[in-house]
Amino acid sequence: MSAFRTLDDLGDVNGKVALVRVDLNLPMQDGQVTDDTRIRAAMPTVLELADKGAKVLILAHFGRPKGDRVSTMSLSLVLGAVEDVFGREIMFVPEVAGDVVTQAIGILRPGDIAILENTRFWKGEEKNDPDLVKAIAANGDFYVNDAFSAAHRAHASTEGLAKVLPAYAGRSMQAELEALEKALGTPERPVAAVVGGAKVSSKLDVLKHLVGQVDHLIIGGGMANTFLAAKGVDVGKSLCEHDLAGTANEILEAADKSGCTVHLPYEVVVAQEFAANPASLRTCNVHEVAADEMILDVGPSAVEALADVLKTCRTLVWNGPLGAFETPPFDEATVALAKTAAALTREGSLISVAGGGDTVAALNHAGVAGDFSYISTAGGAFLEWMEGKELPGVAALAGD
Ligand code: 3PG
Repeated sequence: MSAFRTLDDLGDVNGKVALVRVDLNLPMQDGQVTDDTRIRAAMPTVLELADKGAKVLILAHFGRPKGDRVSTMSLSLVLGAVEDVFGREIMFVPEVAGDVVTQAIGILRPGDIAILENTRFWKGEEKNDPDLVKAIAANGDFYVNDAFSAAHRAHASTEGLAKVLPAYAGRSMQAELEALEKALGTPERPVAAVVGGAKVSSKLDVLKHLVGQVDHLIIGGGMANTFLAAKGVDVGKSLCEHDLAGTANEILEAADKSGCTVHLPYEVVVAQEFAANPASLRTCNVHEVAADEMILDVGPSAVEALADVLKTCRTLVWNGPLGAFETPPFDEATVALAKTAAALTREGSLISVAGGGDTVAALNHAGVAGDFSYISTAGGAFLEWMEGKELPGVAALAGD
């Protein structure tokens, strides 16, 4: 990863206009924000700049309006929630560029904050249109990107602006990049990765990249079944992508060549139907799954063996649950291994980084999210990082 400038590299910002890209793509239900994690993530950067006297213009997208003004995706809808978390009054500006923004800046005093309208109301945003970039940049003195979770998008507000204005990583972006660098860039070895989730097909590139990077690859969730089947194990009626057997074997061969040990469950929790606490629940060796059973979690002895693997490691990257964790008792393997990782992290013997999709929910469910070294709230961006891809929003910050 190349170096990037942070807020520490900014000179005097008093009276200057900061264009700050954050992620306010927030979950909403009945007009209420149901999870304010992303607002809290944006707060340190925005308040630091405001407290140093900058006029802070917040840029963000909300939903996928595809270049139209869609009233249900206006950022005015989240204004109140942001004000509540920040504890400040915030101006709403229904444009991202032009005279209306210039006039708003005239009204703002140093230290004031405004949220500009959803960047995706303009077609040029997703096209990274140089005209839109120029028009937004015309109102700003410098640009700060604090939205790692949108950094896999090469859009005007995530990438284009970094090319035309002095560009800096915000505090959340900085923390994220530093944590990710520690986890896979220049990690302390041995490194383990836990990759779970339903389907191999959704994480093929992640798995292909990881086998060349980590010492231990622990595969769980439905995707483990595809690997087991590829090795000739009868997985009964488990969720399994049989057509990916060849790909699974290629990944296993690549792992072998690069000295990465792949851990597949040798003991599993099975049932005849997928329901909470089903009568047919049992634990068995992976070679004893009956034709009418499905694998729904990793068995307890196998989890203990995985815990022993983690005890030998210095770094852990975690993405995806080990079992069907939303439905008890198929959350047990995920909870147990997450607790081990948390304990090792607390002891100081493991650096643990987790992120993506269901992972944060699974670790919250295990009650250990606070004990991991770093939890990324990014979804798609975290996965693309795990695939070893360069994220355009991050690359643009590395710039000159
Ligand atoms: C997210 O919610 O993961 C980010 O804000 C990116 O949103 P997008 O997938 O609509 O680009």
